[in-house]
Amino acid sequence: MNADPRVALDVDGLDVDIHTPHAVLRAVDSVSFQAVRGRTVALLGESGCGKSMTATAIAGVLDPVAEVAGGSIRLSDGAGRVTDLVSASAKERRELAGKDLGIVFQDALTALNPVYPVGTQLAEPFRIHRGLSKRAARREAIELMRRVGIPEPETRVDAYPHQFSGGMRQRLLIAIAVALSPSVLLADEPTTALDVTVQAQIMSLLRDLREERDMAVVLITHDLALVFEQADRVVVMYAGNVVEEGPVDDVFGSPGHPYTRGLLDSVPVSAERGASLSSIGGAPPELSAIPSGCVYQDRCPLVRSLCREQRPTAREVSPGHRSACHFPDEVSSEEANRSVEVTR
Ligand SMILES: Nc1ncnc2c1ncn2[C@@H]1O[C@H](COP(=O)(O)OP(=O)(O)OP(=O)(O)O)[C@@H](O)[C@H]1O
Ligand SMILES: [Mg+2]
Repeated sequence: MNADPRVALDVDGLDVDIHTPHAVLRAVDSVSFQAVRGRTVALLGESGCGKSMTATAIAGVLDPVAEVAGGSIRLSDGAGRVTDLVSASAKERRELAGKDLGIVFQDALTALNPVYPVGTQLAEPFRIHRGLSKRAARREAIELMRRVGIPEPETRVDAYPHQFSGGMRQRLLIAIAVALSPSVLLADEPTTALDVTVQAQIMSLLRDLREERDMAVVLITHDLALVFEQADRVVVMYAGNVVEEGPVDDVFGSPGHPYTRGLLDSVPVSAERGASLSSIGGAPPELSAIPSGCVYQDRCPLVRSLCREQRPTAREVSPGHRSACHFPDEVSSEEANRSVEVTR
């Protein structure tokens, strides 16, 4: 990672286990990806594939039943100092993650504290990490509110979270996340709860902030259109595993994994052309029933005996584009396409 100073976050071989009364289940299995300054990398996949587990592991806020069981999460600060958040002490972690990792989760209402005015919450990072006086921190909070598009910040700084709309609350969360100009902004479904117009405004704000502050953005979503519009690279996850990864144009233009192909086929291309909304048949496996061999075998139109016997390792299918499929060359063929439709 030191080789490329633009890499702000390097997740390598991350494993996350969930401890249940009956078993230890692997929810995130050897996940690797990098986030580069000034770029957006998307984590894409259906519900339950481990996107939020990955995010909470990076953020250091995993559910108590879950733990990082392997791998590293290296975060680079503005000066190029790299710290592995997995092996760091709690103190190091708090210091670095507080400054260099901004986090926006889906539910802005629960993420903001209802009992304090928003100005107090926005001022907090400036007081804790920059040691600013109450007054100076308040000034910074007002500027930040202005920057994220909140009207009349001088008066609204004293308002409470419930006095803001959903979109405005999401702007406030983004403001808190970027307050200290982190090198990485991690956004887990940041606009899922919002209507389409507000969603577009929030995404455009995130993009502007990314440019202004030269941040790396990790965008977690199950929305293909959002990935297409916002991201430079995409990491496709299935059952806790990365099944495909690469530049968005390459992965969507010429998918190297049948799962990605299935996701693409589940989106209507054009109503006029009469394209039907197909979806992938079946459902992802339960964590307790992830098959050995390929994780996608039970839903895959290309499955054959090798897939049941051996877990495919990720291989490069074009420069910087990797797929964990035994038969990536067959994915874009007509046959694969037809089979996906037949399994509907
Ligand atoms: N506290 C928990 N106890 C047991 N299993 C859990 C717990 N939290 C998550 N899981 C399981 O871990 C897996 C990954 O969940 P995760 O929340 O990361 O999915 P996701 O990709 O974020 O899905 P979504 O799109 O619905 O947000 C799922 O199978 C889920 O059921
Ligand atoms: Mg989630």
